[in-house]
Amino acid sequence: MRAAEIRSRFLQYFARQAHAVRPSSSLVPGDDPTLLFTNAGMVQFKKVFLGQEAPPEGNRRATTSQKCVRAGGKHNDLEQVGHTARHHTFFEMLGNFSFGDYFKRDAIRFAWEFVTVELKIPREHLRVTVYKDDDEARGLWIEETGIAANRIYGLGEKDNFWQMADTGPCGPCSEIFYDHGEAVAGGPPGSPDADGDRYIEIWNLVFMQFDRSADGTLTPLPKPCVDTGMGLERLTAVLQHVHSNYQIDSMQALVMAAAAATGRTDLDNPSLNVIADHIRACSFLIVDGVLPSNEGRGYVLRRIIRRATRHVWKLGALK
Ligand code: SER
Repeated sequence: MRAAEIRSRFLQYFARQAHAVRPSSSLVPGDDPTLLFTNAGMVQFKKVFLGQEAPPEGNRRATTSQKCVRAGGKHNDLEQVGHTARHHTFFEMLGNFSFGDYFKRDAIRFAWEFVTVELKIPREHLRVTVYKDDDEARGLWIEETGIAANRIYGLGEKDNFWQMADTGPCGPCSEIFYDHGEAVAGGPPGSPDADGDRYIEIWNLVFMQFDRSADGTLTPLPKPCVDTGMGLERLTAVLQHVHSNYQIDSMQALVMAAAAATGRTDLDNPSLNVIADHIRACSFLIVDGVLPSNEGRGYVLRRIIRRATRHVWKLGALK
């Protein structure tokens, strides 16, 4: 299945579950000084979660494939790109959202059905994490999916409490991991080797319950909500039976173009991945109106361009 088909399958699945299919918003968040770039699918719905705006078209369920950039700000993956199989500065996040409609049980049920029935990913390859104190979510995973208790890992705030920025909507989360198998180095979630590429988080289900204020106070949201995010590139790697996101169809086109432009034939050279990733981020940022400059968003764009250029130089293609 090509990445484009996986994106459609996701949106169609959630449309069948009565979600409104909404367009991606811009990478530049509208009137939100707390954020540099749109870093998750929930950003365009922030005011809906906070109860300050009505849900779009009055529908309390929505689904999107959202353009995201994680370079600068709270979620910053820039320095990881080129060192792991799974990090990007620009990526697409598939998400389903409940604005005070369904909560944990249905979020878990939909996610498991999409992954194991719709996409037919073998359940033996899947692991789940929950926030350590969230016994409700742990119980629901067992009830709704029959997953063995020893495949559920309870982790702390750093891993399983999601927030978009230092302030704003947030809550405990539960993640689905895919095990790429023994041939890849890395340990299960929460283990000392968790940062390896063997167990990869593919989907994050956030149980949005609080609004965090600048002094750290957590105020309950008017109604509990759901915000999920699944990396399209990571999911595509699983379904295309490749271990690295850079080997999927949509990224390979860019890796090959980078190789042709730099005159390289060593297609597994990490610098080609960096260039492929960064050129995507730069292109989408420029399309959304960001231009290189000395400050703010424009400065992050300039840093991405510089980092890509350094890798072109490393490949010997800049004299
Ligand atoms: N907001 C959560 C995340 O970015 C889920 O969409 O992981």
